[in-house]
Amino acid sequence: MAQTKTDNSFLADKIALRIRHLPKGDVNVLDCFAGTGKLWDAVQETTGRTIRVLPIDKRKDINRFRLPGNNLRFLQTLDLSKFNVIDLDAYGIPFAQLQVLFERGYKGTVIVTFIQSVFGQLPHELAVAVGFSQTMMDKIPTLLGARGWEYFCQWLANHGVSRLFHVGSSRKHYFAFRISE
Ligand SMILES: C[S@@+](CC[C@H](N)C(=O)[O-])C[C@H]1O[C@@H](n2cnc3c(N)ncnc32)[C@H](O)[C@@H]1O
Repeated sequence: MAQTKTDNSFLADKIALRIRHLPKGDVNVLDCFAGTGKLWDAVQETTGRTIRVLPIDKRKDINRFRLPGNNLRFLQTLDLSKFNVIDLDAYGIPFAQLQVLFERGYKGTVIVTFIQSVFGQLPHELAVAVGFSQTMMDKIPTLLGARGWEYFCQWLANHGVSRLFHVGSSRKHYFAFRISE
């Protein structure tokens, strides 16, 4: 019988992905969807490496240091060259955040969680960016959504991302890529 992955094994996949893509030398992470910081705590514990993490989260009930508020605001204004890893562990599709990284010419490692909703709808701007018209989006949203991951990869490729290191399936994808100088 096919085995379904539990949340814990996805957590293990996410931690392993981050460990596999740790840069050599100093590690400075901008953790844009930091939550309670359990992913990077686990990476530090497992590797024993010193990792500097600047967390951002919009939740108000987190009892540890973070930059509070919408990460888009910080991504648009912080000096991104200070970070060699940007972590986008979103609940949905962090399209707007990736768009800012591309617009600002960020160089470094990007780690992303991509989760499509059960109805599978794509962010409007992503659909437009890969060439669909408003009429098509209105007429066949489910069909477009069914190939969401494929369209998303196409959009990344249009921005020069040629190699993805990827774990996941169907609606949930965890991946990393590097944007070089
Ligand atoms: C999947 S959880 C991240 C878990 C986290 N990586 C950890 O190690 O615990 C997503 C987090 O992103 C936050 N979030 C969602 N949208 C955000 C936004 N636009 N700006 C800042 N934080 C956001 C949520 O409050 C939530 O804590």
